[in-house]
Amino acid sequence: MIDKIKEHIEEVKAFHADNKEKIEEFRIKYLGSKGLLRELFADFKTVPNEMKKDFGQVINQLKTIAEEKVATLQEQIESKEVAKGIYGDLTRPGEPVTLGSRHPISIVKNQIIDIFSSVGFNVSEGPEIEDDWHNFTALNLPEYHPARDMQDTFFIQTNPDVLLRTHTSSVQVRYMENNQPPIRTISPGRVFRNEDISARSHCIFHQVEGLYIDKDVSFADLKQTLLYFTKEMFGKSKIRLRPSYFPFTEPSAEIDIYWGLKTETDYRITKGTGWLEIGGCGMVDPNVLKNCGIDADEYTGFAFGMGVERIAMLLYQIGDIRMFYENDVRFLEQFKSSL
Ligand code: DAH
Repeated sequence: MIDKIKEHIEEVKAFHADNKEKIEEFRIKYLGSKGLLRELFADFKTVPNEMKKDFGQVINQLKTIAEEKVATLQEQIESKEVAKGIYGDLTRPGEPVTLGSRHPISIVKNQIIDIFSSVGFNVSEGPEIEDDWHNFTALNLPEYHPARDMQDTFFIQTNPDVLLRTHTSSVQVRYMENNQPPIRTISPGRVFRNEDISARSHCIFHQVEGLYIDKDVSFADLKQTLLYFTKEMFGKSKIRLRPSYFPFTEPSAEIDIYWGLKTETDYRITKGTGWLEIGGCGMVDPNVLKNCGIDADEYTGFAFGMGVERIAMLLYQIGDIRMFYENDVRFLEQFKSSL
């Protein structure tokens, strides 16, 4: 008899159920008013006195174990139901998370930074609201210099010394004022020009300025650096430095890359020449070095400036610069898979 009860104890221990009905069935079987325990307690009366103690102990053990089992199983089921109430069905697949995308200008800017960082350039920044000295005068563009006309400027009406920078070359000046050579820095940023807005030009756009100052820096270093950049950025390995004029560099050049003439688009964007201009460059004019407190007899250097929108338009074949600023999600979503 006692062995039989012990078997029941094992049975109860091993029992598991994950729904209310099964637990209730189990409860009735053992603890119900016509259940097993009732019967056992009834039998207890007929048990000889000397066995009562052992017999009583196992019955009580079975009772406690059965009661505990029912309580824990019920608790488990209830807590699952509470979780379901809060979270719904936890096994269901989650709602898709809609990811944003980086703006194409940021993507291209970051690529340019990565390429120049890999050859030792750091990143520097300057203010968008500038003064005359940093945007013009220190860069060899004194007041009434005709080259100031190349960059239609937004001035603050009440104070002609405060303006929105027309190029990131102003950051060159600030960097040289605060750091001595060797200098290797690029300065990405937003610039402003009082120009009519069209498919090809905008009054707000982005540039990346580059500056390298050290002993014995030559024009050959400039060309090699730009060649490295165009190979990494566009996969194109032919560039041309076309003589030009900038007041802050001497000699100065426009940077052209050989884009090729394979497709109709190539013909259109290069106007049938195969060449594309991506920016300006040159050897930093000794006057600029002096203006910024750098010994022009000891140091030489090169500088360059490139338009980020122009590069992005080439890379992604975007025909209208205004697309960048309209915040049309149909346009922006196309850059989801990029960097
Ligand atoms: N600042 C010039 C512009 O906005 C671009 C430029 C040309 C920058 C030559 C330079 C440079 O540093 O050397 O048109």
